[in-house]
Amino acid sequence: MSQEINSPFRYAGGKFYARKLILEHLPEHSYYVEPFAGGASIFFAKFKVERNWLNDIEKDLINCLITIRDYPNQLIKSLEGEEATKERHAYYKNEFKPKTDLERALRWFYLNRTSYSGIMNMQNCYWGYGPKYSMRPENWPRNILRSSKKLQGVKLTTNDFEEVINNVPDNSFLFVDPPYYNADQEKFYVHSFNKEDHYRLCNVLNANTNRIKFLLTYDDNPTIRELYDWAHNLHEKEWNYTINRTDDQKNGSNKKGSRYKGRELFIVNFDSLKQIELFGDELNINKTRKKFF
Ligand SMILES: C[S@@+](CC[C@H](N)C(=O)[O-])C[C@H]1O[C@@H](n2cnc3c(N)ncnc32)[C@H](O)[C@@H]1O
Repeated sequence: MSQEINSPFRYAGGKFYARKLILEHLPEHSYYVEPFAGGASIFFAKFKVERNWLNDIEKDLINCLITIRDYPNQLIKSLEGEEATKERHAYYKNEFKPKTDLERALRWFYLNRTSYSGIMNMQNCYWGYGPKYSMRPENWPRNILRSSKKLQGVKLTTNDFEEVINNVPDNSFLFVDPPYYNADQEKFYVHSFNKEDHYRLCNVLNANTNRIKFLLTYDDNPTIRELYDWAHNLHEKEWNYTINRTDDQKNGSNKKGSRYKGRELFIVNFDSLKQIELFGDELNINKTRKKFF
């Protein structure tokens, strides 16, 4: 079975559509860390190395990953006979009161698979399942089992990012994907991330830069460019993606899907272009190269 799989979750701000661009920038490493794991789409998409650490401050998300890692069959059993309907979504969202970690994982998994864009901030968690575009419940067990396999041996924690970055072993590689600087991402996540957090992140990466390698992704704006003027390289990246009608509440027409453009900065503290030379340049990445110094 291929080690490179899709995340078990749908996740707002997830890097699923940019994964090819990101994978090209990864240096050789044997310890991989995501301090802001979310749906961990890069961890699931990449080749698994010897040691791995996924962290996110969102406790229910990590509880669901721990359940998938350690109790996949129990989770599958608790989902048995489940249907993806608006009524069940409303039930899990408003009525179901989990009493155990397994029940918390069940609720999280069900809502994540059936909500618009996988948004799990309950104020914006709406029904958003479409049988044509979303993974059907009969396929959930397979998804859980293959994710469980990949998660074996992976460290899963719910710390603040600063604690993680200060404690990763020397020579670790970190894929760092914080909430965007421009705040409209706040509605997606349970925990808000303010300006001070962005500065904290910059400081802790700077303080550890000589002992780790990192790839940081951000929305492109002058403050971020200025904050990271000490980093080695800054690349402007663009990719296309489509959101299917059933997963796009703004689009009420019969069109198949809406096209969007993802645009971000990849900030690295090492020469990631070497990697691209190794893996080829089919995406014309060198054209968008921007060197600060
Ligand atoms: C952009 S998302 C990560 C998406 C992920 N890369 C993916 O592909 O699905 C940012 C994540 O940061 C988490 N987060 C917010 N504040 C945090 C903090 N102080 N420490 C650790 N994680 C935090 C959020 O819960 C959210 O899951």
